[in-house]
Amino acid sequence: MPLSAPRRLLLALCWLPVTALADGSLSAEREQELETLLYQDCGSCHGMTLRGGLGPPLPRSRMNAYDRDGLAALILNGVAGTAMPGWAGLLTEEEARWLADHLQHDNPLDE
Ligand code: HEC
Repeated sequence: MPLSAPRRLLLALCWLPVTALADGSLSAEREQELETLLYQDCGSCHGMTLRGGLGPPLPRSRMNAYDRDGLAALILNGVAGTAMPGWAGLLTEEEARWLADHLQHDNPLDE
């Protein structure tokens, strides 16, 4: 017997990756992935402890020279003419804001 339309919709929804919760906040799993991205992918240029490398160090004090949305926009857009790539293809605005928040308030590099 074929499934009714609402049932098919329900099944389809179950296949969506659980990256964002209903209230728009990120799942703990996605936050964990973003943290790994920050120290490994961003860290490949900025250093695994954010102390700098090809890219500049990202200490808390410097990160708080930006407002959170400005920092998120920088992460999404990159810095034209430099090695800093834009991450808009990989991250949502919400996820970039989470990274910005992490850099400003939960940053191991506190210079
Ligand atoms: C391929 C190397 C590379 C990768 C990967 C990279 N960056 Fe950058 N980033 C740079 C460079 C180079 C600059 C300096 C740009 C400039 O000269 O203004 C920079 C600048 C920045 C700045 C501004 C620093 C300041 O002092 O104003 C932030 C914030 C930043 N990156 C965050 C990130 C985050 C978050 C990620 C990962 C999502 C990331 N970067 C990944 C190379 C990289």
